[in-house]
Amino acid sequence: MSNNTAGTRAETEQGAAQSVDWGDAISDGGLVVVSNRQPYSHTYDGDDVTVEVHAGGLTAGLDPVMQAVGGTWVAWGDGDADRQVVDENDCVPAPPDDPNYTLCRVWLDDDEVEDYYYGFSNQVLWPICHSALTNVVEWERYWERYRSVNERFVDAVEDHTDAGDIVWFQDYHFALAPAIARERVDDDTVLMQFWHIPWPSWDTFRGCPHGEAILEGLLGNDLFVFHVPRYRENFLRCVEMAIDDADVDHETGTVRYDGHETQVTEFPMGIEVDKIAERAGSAEADEFWAEFTEDYPVADTVAVGVDRLDYSKGIPERLRALEQFFERNPEWRGELTYVEKGSESRTQIQSYKDIQNRIETAVERVNDRFGTDGWTPVLFFDEYISQKALAGLYRHSDMALISPLRDGMNLVAQEYVAAQIDDDGVLILSDQAGASRLLDAALMVKPQNTGAFADAIERALSMRGAERRARMQHLHEQVAENDLPTWTGLNLRAAMALRDGEGSVREPGLPTGG
Ligand code: F6P
Repeated sequence: MSNNTAGTRAETEQGAAQSVDWGDAISDGGLVVVSNRQPYSHTYDGDDVTVEVHAGGLTAGLDPVMQAVGGTWVAWGDGDADRQVVDENDCVPAPPDDPNYTLCRVWLDDDEVEDYYYGFSNQVLWPICHSALTNVVEWERYWERYRSVNERFVDAVEDHTDAGDIVWFQDYHFALAPAIARERVDDDTVLMQFWHIPWPSWDTFRGCPHGEAILEGLLGNDLFVFHVPRYRENFLRCVEMAIDDADVDHETGTVRYDGHETQVTEFPMGIEVDKIAERAGSAEADEFWAEFTEDYPVADTVAVGVDRLDYSKGIPERLRALEQFFERNPEWRGELTYVEKGSESRTQIQSYKDIQNRIETAVERVNDRFGTDGWTPVLFFDEYISQKALAGLYRHSDMALISPLRDGMNLVAQEYVAAQIDDDGVLILSDQAGASRLLDAALMVKPQNTGAFADAIERALSMRGAERRARMQHLHEQVAENDLPTWTGLNLRAAMALRDGEGSVREPGLPTGG
């Protein structure tokens, strides 16, 4: 299909994006975003300082928001040259090429990184929220440092916040910060938080060390937001069960506790649909694909997976499904290549070392079993590729296998859809990802049911063009309706409504569960 169609689609989506006026949504007062990861870090390349862009979902999603709205972004300065470029307030203009907001860095020493980031955040809260209780490891010092680092971030918030501002905490690294900040900032300051990962059921959360303190910390927010209703319901139930004095109204999503009211709701996070379609149709995307297929033995039909190498992503299970598929369908040997683009992650943690070894072993097993001189069934690579190259990989892949065991949303699924500018790819999606609630025209799988997963691969490969296109067009509408500007507008308008005393952000009677 020609790039011309890509252009048409990009224009339509641009129109949708413009209907949300971000600037308007935040009119009186500024925005202060607080996240663990920073969008840009400065590193030494010999004596020169270079800028690295973080491509994780959270930073990639919030950077355009900050570029549109302006304000301050507070984050951990993890680059080795970060201190070199900041001003006397530890801040630097961002984005580096064309600045329109301020990035303010918080410095963490090695012990703090070890206990707050690798420790309590990623060995307690992450596994608990992904219902992986067997991966929970807690040392008391993790908790102590988690608390003190949350306090350090609130110090930075205080330095950069005025009355009437909106402070927007991101994710599970800052479960205690809202209640600490509530004591310190002006009453007119709105405190809100977006939880990018799942919230588990009470039966799982009750295993969380310091669970009650975590809930109390989060109830310092005026507004607390999840991707999907199920996580909101789980959270409200946990509050009800763990905190006797909390008054929970499930219908309005309101919690009253300790003289303060928190509104709890859900706004599914989206992506910049038009940008991804544009990248997918770019010359660089095609060049990447041409080089890739030259360098590697890629078959005519391609399936793709793009993941951080995390145990929640279901990669060994996916490889097992592929193995079953090749076992049952010998005629597809030599005809289908699965390309896994992985990114190393949190490698200091034992459970991450283990999963990365398991993935390597599974790739070798499938390739040893079925591979031939001219064909490698699974091509795994973890080198960095540009965003345009990634869009090219999505576009030229006939199907995507997105099969997390549990995932807050999964923006990769949405990106794959946005990059299908020819409308001919098939999305196979885990029903355990938040994205499954949005993308109902995908072929849904239970990731551990590898037999049915292999059936879904067969179904995708035999699907007629008309059905493929109809499904993809439907998915495309769903991704466009819930794009990043929509998500931003929903969050900021809700915050502004609270700041301006307009009461509830949820209509009573909105659906629960799901
Ligand atoms: O999805 C949760 C999340 O923490 C995101 O915020 C982030 O994009 C991703 O995981 C990467 O994690 P880390 O910052 O630990 O590398």
